Amino acid sequence: MPRSRKSARRQRMEAAINYPIEWLEERSGLIGGVRYFLFRKVPSDTNWMQTLGSATLTAFIVQAVTGAILAMYYKPDPNSAYQSIQHITNDVWLGWLVRGMHRWGASVFIILMFFHMARVFLFGAYKYPRELNWIVGVLLLALGMLEGFTGYLLPWDQTAYWATVVGININGTAPFLGPFLAQFLRGGAEIGPDTLARFYSIHMLLIPGALIGLIGLHLYLVVRLGVTSPPWSKEAAGAERVEKPKRGRRGLLMPGARGGIPR
Ligand code: HEM
Repeated sequence: MPRSRKSARRQRMEAAINYPIEWLEERSGLIGGVRYFLFRKVPSDTNWMQTLGSATLTAFIVQAVTGAILAMYYKPDPNSAYQSIQHITNDVWLGWLVRGMHRWGASVFIILMFFHMARVFLFGAYKYPRELNWIVGVLLLALGMLEGFTGYLLPWDQTAYWATVVGININGTAPFLGPFLAQFLRGGAEIGPDTLARFYSIHMLLIPGALIGLIGLHLYLVVRLGVTSPPWSKEAAGAERVEKPKRGRRGLLMPGARGGIPR
């Protein structure tokens, strides 16, 4: 009968789709992990403002993808850096678009990060037990801004050069560490070829690597601690009785004490 034939075909198709998923799950448990991450319980009255973290994450992913494409054409050498940027903008297919997305996306990323931070602050989501995630966020903010600063030099034009001179001089005036920081960033006494190579390495490898690690930790903590309800919520953190975990004389957690996690 056509109906049962169709359902048999459907079954075969489903089995074919499920086979690689089950294969992976059996050997890694990854699918369960992704399901745990995506299908968590969140407060019933979550707000659009709570999507700002995901928006920031999206902006970061756009920066990573467009940055990887730009790095295929960019040359971190004082004699060819500017020309390679001109080549990307004028000759490479859709190069102007990718470069524009990366340049404007950098501002979008920073602005979204500030909006997300303001949301966390206004919702009181930095309080117990999420203080550590706030600290991770502060590191993300500092690294995000440093990423913007190091990227700004790469076009190697007059604006880039003088903006970097000003930025390094400002950092150089910091007490104690300032001169060392300025020397480290310049890679010598003057801004020159070493500075460009250094900024490229920091911009391409060091900071993105640190950002990816910290974002992973940030999201792990979000999943572990749950999402905070809006302050006007009836389920707001503290509205229900939340016991702080019992602590010993030195402030260490007592065995078995984990404390309630306010949602
Ligand atoms: C690369 C930058 C960042 C990314 C990708 C990111 C991503 C996220 C995501 C996806 C969430 C969960 C959804 C949400 O609450 O919006 C979240 C929550 C949180 N973020 Fe961020 N974030 C970043 C920067 C920051 C900064 C700069 C701070 C503060 C200094 C911060 C502090 C927090 C806190 C405390 C939570 C928990 C909020 C809650 O429980 O309601 N994050 N973040």
